[in-house]
Amino acid sequence: MTDHILVERQGAIQIIRMNRPDKKNALTRGMYATMSAALAEGDADPAVRVHVFLGVPGAFSSGNDLADFMVIATGGEGGTEVWDFLMALAKVEKPIVSGVDGIAVGIGTTINLHCDLTFATRRTVFRTPFVDLGLVPEAGSSLLAPRILGQQGAFALLGLGEGFSAERAKAAGLIYEVVEEGALEAAVLEAASQIAAKPPQALKIARDLMRGSREDLVARIGVESEHFRERLKSDEARAALTAFMMRKKAG
Ligand code: COA
Repeated sequence: MTDHILVERQGAIQIIRMNRPDKKNALTRGMYATMSAALAEGDADPAVRVHVFLGVPGAFSSGNDLADFMVIATGGEGGTEVWDFLMALAKVEKPIVSGVDGIAVGIGTTINLHCDLTFATRRTVFRTPFVDLGLVPEAGSSLLAPRILGQQGAFALLGLGEGFSAERAKAAGLIYEVVEEGALEAAVLEAASQIAAKPPQALKIARDLMRGSREDLVARIGVESEHFRERLKSDEARAALTAFMMRKKAG
């Protein structure tokens, strides 16, 4: 368990807050584990009707901790925490609302493909530099992004690694609403309250119908993960990760 993830309840709303501001909410194995446990516990508790993901001012998440990637790239053990989190996300039973302010890189972007409503601020940029890091899309994004953004939008996001401003993300269907920074958390909690007030069984059936079978999603996450693990050990990935690690020293 880690205090880099804060889990709290506000009535029927479970808030999962990424809270590692000094690293722009880069996600460690411990943080994934805490988030997986929170999703499981919230799903199992009838008092919880909706999950909320939040970050800190200016940073939703800078993605997976690149130092953790470097461990795997250099032959170390990666653990199952990321996999467990992706499975929890793919299979979550209750709606998820996210509030994104500022940095949303890698899984900081792809997590939103699993959310039912995402609010973002004007200064938010969504970016997935997987290919530039010598890696491949994860979290089912290779399946979900083409469905949501179309083939070319998905290629711009996942292939080119283009940044999507909040406005562009909204126009592309990646997010639900753009709000002012100071209004973000209130908007998220208001939406979550609306969800929490719905008849939960009807809402669950409606959500399941809209999402369809999870089998293809789970299978795709499996295929992506195999490629991802392989790619982490590639020369391309090692070079990109080393460049990031050396960046600060050089600067
Ligand atoms: N993993 C580990 N550390 C990270 C990180 C990540 N994904 N993202 C940021 N950090 C760390 C930086 O190393 C820095 O640490 P330091 O102060 O100890 O040197 C700190 O967080 C602040 O980051 P910084 O780069 O100074 O902030 P910025 O506002 O100039 O830039 C980013 C923010 C997110 C654009 C930039 O840090 C970045 O590109 N990070 C890598 C993102 C990434 O590739 N994620 C993986 C996607 S699969």
